[in-house]
Amino acid sequence: MKNILFLVASLRKESLNMRLARVAANNLPDGYGATFFDLKDVPMYNEDLRGDGSPESVRQLREALRSADGVFWTTPEYNYALPGIVKNAIDWACRPMLPQHSFAGKPMNAAVATISATNGIRSLNDFKRIWNNCGGFSVTTFDFVLQLAPSKFIEESGVESLEPKSLASLRLAIDHLVRAIEGDGGAVVTANWTAFVESLP
Ligand SMILES: Cc1cc2nc3c(=O)[nH]c(=O)nc-3n(C[C@H](O)[C@H](O)[C@H](O)COP(=O)(O)O)c2cc1C
Repeated sequence: MKNILFLVASLRKESLNMRLARVAANNLPDGYGATFFDLKDVPMYNEDLRGDGSPESVRQLREALRSADGVFWTTPEYNYALPGIVKNAIDWACRPMLPQHSFAGKPMNAAVATISATNGIRSLNDFKRIWNNCGGFSVTTFDFVLQLAPSKFIEESGVESLEPKSLASLRLAIDHLVRAIEGDGGAVVTANWTAFVESLP
């Protein structure tokens, strides 16, 4: 069984992004299971604590990333950018850099749920750019933003889901991630990362 780690970049109880992540987790293909990691205990980044002295929540986050076959983030957009909670988690997760940080070459896809009818894509663009710049492997070519999100959730046999068009888009986003995992899409990125590390003086 392959494992997709779900990370949700909103801490509020009624989070639309948490609801979206749950729908995604209920729509994984056969042979895939979901793990959730709660970011609420991850403190603000402190360079003094980046190694062995890192907080327990940070060590658990790194371990969850390392042991996942792929990562699916759901995130709001805040002020036309990705929320600080995401940036903070990535800052912790990418240290120590050597010999290989916790998500080097890790396939990742992300989706945004927003109340807005027009916004959200900037958060996703930031996200994929930052993940890739750190040596992760984010899925490109298809971006899924669930706009007007509160109106898109439906209930089916007591289980929350999305109206058909949105659900099809979410499934496409999941399929993109699964193809990246199955095709070992992160292998080149991992090899490049290793070469970079070996080139260091
Ligand atoms: C500080 C702040 C800034 C926001 N900025 C944006 C924005 O730039 N674009 C957008 O689409 N929504 C923005 N929103 C609205 C979010 O889409 C909305 O709060 C959404 O419900 C957040 O996701 P959540 O339900 O998972 O917490 C903002 C919300 C907050 C609290």
